[in-house]
Amino acid sequence: MKKTNIGVLISGSGTNLQSIIDKAEAGDLPVNVACVISDREKAYGLERAKKHGIPAVFVDRKGYALREAHEDAIIGVLDKYNVELIVCAGYMRLLTHHIISRYRNRIINIHPALLPSFPGTDGYGDAWRYGVKVSGCTVHFVDEGCDTGPIILQGINPVDNDDTFESFRERGLAIEHRVFPEAIKLYCEGRLKIEGRRVRILDKE
Ligand code: GAR
Repeated sequence: MKKTNIGVLISGSGTNLQSIIDKAEAGDLPVNVACVISDREKAYGLERAKKHGIPAVFVDRKGYALREAHEDAIIGVLDKYNVELIVCAGYMRLLTHHIISRYRNRIINIHPALLPSFPGTDGYGDAWRYGVKVSGCTVHFVDEGCDTGPIILQGINPVDNDDTFESFRERGLAIEHRVFPEAIKLYCEGRLKIEGRRVRILDKE
């Protein structure tokens, strides 16, 4: 199968990025990680990319008064590396219509809660503080809302009596690392069909 060129947007540690790189290197995910872009200079994910010979680019938010101008700088990098699919792996900035319209249905995000519950920047904290008995993660297409796009896959993280926030989050992250590559693979295989809010997963040919 032809590999899909992906560009990964990050803001932080990049453990999801690592799971994607590892699965791609193992031959379990038909992607070429063409570039990794961070809006934070110190994001450890940039180091992870470099260790694997992947172009790692810091695109500073400062210096761009408008979000759209910052996105233009990101688009410049994505174009340079012929990115077909944008993967948001812990990218903590909302994307605007400017970039979304250009990559319509070609941007996917992972969120650390079962959407539509607990959107925003602290899915684990919000779910934990609310006291839910079941949480998880959601991989979805990105639209102009905050974590509102059509859902591709969700992973389930039941809360145990003995859980601490740390154990809850740690188990949740391990689930993310399994579910995100699975969703990316479905995309690469052309098996995701968006029908309104619903994403139908087509059978393998
Ligand atoms: C992950 O838990 C991801 O779901 C979350 O940030 C973390 C990044 O971890 N994303 C969001 O909250 C987006 N709103 P990582 O850098 O170790 O992959």
